[in-house]
Amino acid sequence: MTLPQSIGKQIKFYIKGFFALGLLLTSATYGVLCSLFFSAIGKRDLAQWSTARFYYNLFSSVMRINIEIENQERLNGLPAILISNHQSELDILVLGRIFPKRCVVTAKKQLKLIPFLGWFMALSGTFFLDRANHEKAIRVLNNALDNLKETNGGLFMFPEGTRSYSSKPTLLPFKKGAFHLAVQAQIPIIPVVVSNTSNLYSLKLKNFNTGTIKIKVLEPISTEGLTKEDVPKLVEATQASMESELLSIGMSVVKGEKVVGEAEALLPHEAQ
Ligand SMILES: *[C@@H]1O[C@H](CO)[C@@H](O)[C@H](O)[C@H]1NC(C)=O
Repeated sequence: MTLPQSIGKQIKFYIKGFFALGLLLTSATYGVLCSLFFSAIGKRDLAQWSTARFYYNLFSSVMRINIEIENQERLNGLPAILISNHQSELDILVLGRIFPKRCVVTAKKQLKLIPFLGWFMALSGTFFLDRANHEKAIRVLNNALDNLKETNGGLFMFPEGTRSYSSKPTLLPFKKGAFHLAVQAQIPIIPVVVSNTSNLYSLKLKNFNTGTIKIKVLEPISTEGLTKEDVPKLVEATQASMESELLSIGMSVVKGEKVVGEAEALLPHEAQ
């Protein structure tokens, strides 16, 4: 059951959402220019990192949502496949903060069509996956892997495949792609767990507050010596450890909010 939401809260949500979209478009425009620049000097693999930080700094200073990372140094253990839980549109901000140098994202091919954002992604070397065409997706991923080995870089994936908008504190079943790639290349998986952000931003609850997202980078998981046959177990173990970390990290911190129980947390919240 959803509680009735006050009109004021809804208005605030849409106004802030409108500005957030503006910041995203600004960053995507920066990203297009930045990709052209870095490609021209032969360093295209820095374009996504540079744009990510630009977006994070812009968004977090305007919208007052910042991110604290535990074990940040682990993000630099490349080459690796980085994975994280996928909750909402706010995950772009998470990427903005965690993205290491020489890392690229994979994304569904539909994103290519979004003006500015899609152009930036295409120009900066995103690997677009066609969900409907399994074989083509595999080819693209193999390409991504070659690229990653060449640059000693990283590949970022959301193993849940889609935003969970979950109403239960669990993750969607993981897709195996990221794990197959890691095993194939014999490189580690770096799991990143992000606190529940629905109290900061939620389309459903019309939350758009200021505060802090907590992130924990887990111990990299080695795939050395593992084969295809080990993948299902690897997936299961990784998902279980990320779920238990998610439970222990809990909710993000809303600025000015006292620590409340769950029922109260769902009540309309007036942030300053
Ligand atoms: C996040 O919190 C909301 C609100 O308490 C809850 O409904 C949802 O299940 C949580 N999601 C996750 C992935 O923990």
